[in-house]
Amino acid sequence: MLLSVVVGALWAVLPAYLPNNAAVLAGGGRPIDGGRTLGDRRLLGDGKTWRGTAAGTAAGIALAVSLDALAGRAGAAVGVTLPGFPLVAALGLALGAMVGDVAASFLKRRSGRERGAAFPGLDQLDFVVGALVFAAAGAPEWFAATFTPARLAVVVVVTPALHVGTNVAAYALGLKDEPW
Ligand code: CTP
Ligand code: MG
Repeated sequence: MLLSVVVGALWAVLPAYLPNNAAVLAGGGRPIDGGRTLGDRRLLGDGKTWRGTAAGTAAGIALAVSLDALAGRAGAAVGVTLPGFPLVAALGLALGAMVGDVAASFLKRRSGRERGAAFPGLDQLDFVVGALVFAAAGAPEWFAATFTPARLAVVVVVTPALHVGTNVAAYALGLKDEPW
């Protein structure tokens, strides 16, 4: 029972986890804010680019499509019914993850934090909150059936730990400038 909740929750949220990591690998080029400032600070900063955002969104959607193709066999192997991803749900999770991260940069700049500065709590949850909000808005029935309260609880507990882990790993591998 607990296993099926945890496995189902992680499966459902995976397309929200990949976009930020893909953006780190693919990012660069023109910043979304085009260099514009608000007051004496950048609107978003050079760390939020069109290329990173597009690549992250595409990666999340591609992962959802792949998971969909694997769900039957993977679910049977662990004895769990795994959730599927209608395209609008995949788009909501992937794009929402990127938008949540962009929104966090907006808040970081407004609170005086330079690009790359840590904002504990926000850094670990921004993308998952964005993903859940966008998925709920785009596919409300799918969202209600997929993100049950028990699965949501798992997501909220596991996400910060996974985020910290992957970022420390990306930093250690030299892919990222800071370990957060
Ligand atoms: N990235 C990108 N586009 C995005 C998100 C990330 O190009 N929408 C790339 C950038 O190269 C960025 C790197 O991924 O520097 C790391 O992402 P993140 O830690 O989110 O950005 P920071 O540079 O730390 O900037 P911020 O302080 O605004 O979070
Ligand atoms: Mg950062």
